[in-house]
Amino acid sequence: MRILFKNIKQLLQIRGPEVRKIAGADMSELPAIENAFLITENERIAEFGPMTEIPNVNADLEVDATGKMILPAWCDSHTHLVYAGNREKEFVDRIRGLSYEEIAERGGGILNSARQLESTSEEDIYKQSSRRLKEIMRLGTGAVEIKSGYGLSSEAELKMLRVIKRLATSYPIEVKATFLGAHAIPEPYRDQPDKYVDLICDEMIPKVSEKGLAEFIDAFCEKGYFSAEQTKKIMKTGKAYGLIPKIHVNQFNSIGGIQASIETKALTVDHLEVMTDQDFMDLERSEVMPVALPSCSYFLSIPYTPAREMIDRGMALAIATDFNPGSTPSGNMNFAVSTACIKMRLTPEEAINAATINGAYAMNLSHSLGSVTRGKFANLILTKEIPSYGFLPYAFGSNLIDKVMIRGEFLPQE
Ligand code: NIG
Ligand code: FE
Repeated sequence: MRILFKNIKQLLQIRGPEVRKIAGADMSELPAIENAFLITENERIAEFGPMTEIPNVNADLEVDATGKMILPAWCDSHTHLVYAGNREKEFVDRIRGLSYEEIAERGGGILNSARQLESTSEEDIYKQSSRRLKEIMRLGTGAVEIKSGYGLSSEAELKMLRVIKRLATSYPIEVKATFLGAHAIPEPYRDQPDKYVDLICDEMIPKVSEKGLAEFIDAFCEKGYFSAEQTKKIMKTGKAYGLIPKIHVNQFNSIGGIQASIETKALTVDHLEVMTDQDFMDLERSEVMPVALPSCSYFLSIPYTPAREMIDRGMALAIATDFNPGSTPSGNMNFAVSTACIKMRLTPEEAINAATINGAYAMNLSHSLGSVTRGKFANLILTKEIPSYGFLPYAFGSNLIDKVMIRGEFLPQE
């Protein structure tokens, strides 16, 4: 199947195949071709350039993109979109004055989702999660990372990871799986958290690895959850089994999670709403990519990650949704991109870089996704007619997407 797009107002995020991530001042550039054509062949991007150089090809389908833009589909590198039920009641509790932490202390939060997951069949979890996956594809996401972490027992964690695998094989969107057994201390281990860490290291990680159910390993390094020492132990064990660390750090407190992540050569550190001077200094000297989750700060009314300062200090940055039932019940990357601009003062160019090529890097996918590059998968957003790409973050709340293509095929219209 060969598809030819003609008269594209702007073709965005054009990169050479060697580009894996963009950092610092370079993030303010978004390479583009005005009045462009693009050809996809089967699953991949085959050719593109200015309309003046359009080749003579026999296309199976021609799309006139007059007034419209094409950019890579969003790469959402941090979600928990496999879960059961919802936490709408906690949302109302927070409106009435309780904090996320207070709700968790009363047995709500992650443990609430774990109870709901426990009593829901694998088939039903799959159905509920499929709906969310289809929704984010329609919203322009072409690659997504999904974590376990609402199981908190060997059996239930494996159940979650099997659902993630089934989603990965049932839908064209690229899905990467992360094992997050260390998401919270389950009730039976409340007074002996180290025993739960032992269970993760001695039983869960070997099983996850043996069954090939995850590529990454994560932990919620936070007061009341997992200490930096426990996080390091889990990451080191995970690495010994071939899993790559990607870690929740500094959401509410700075307790050494960044340093633990650097020491264990994590691919990313995610959240970072609370940053000390030392955290900044250590992170900017490392290769670890920070991932900001603006929709989570929005929903919980907690501080925003100091993403502006990170970029100004020369760091690379990705943005992701954190789609989960407790802190971010939204997988809308368009909203995350807007919020990064509005609340974190990223420019549209920076936010689009953070949500495409850098998001792909944050999932080990930037060799095949995240930019308009010959040979990469044709995972693309065709916008509606818009005056400029800055309208994507500017007109927040509007749906400016006309069509989404994943692996060279348009998603069916609703
Ligand atoms: O990234 N911080 C830890 N994990 C999730 C929230 C999970 C939940 O509340 O269910 C997050 O915000
Ligand atoms: Fe998260």
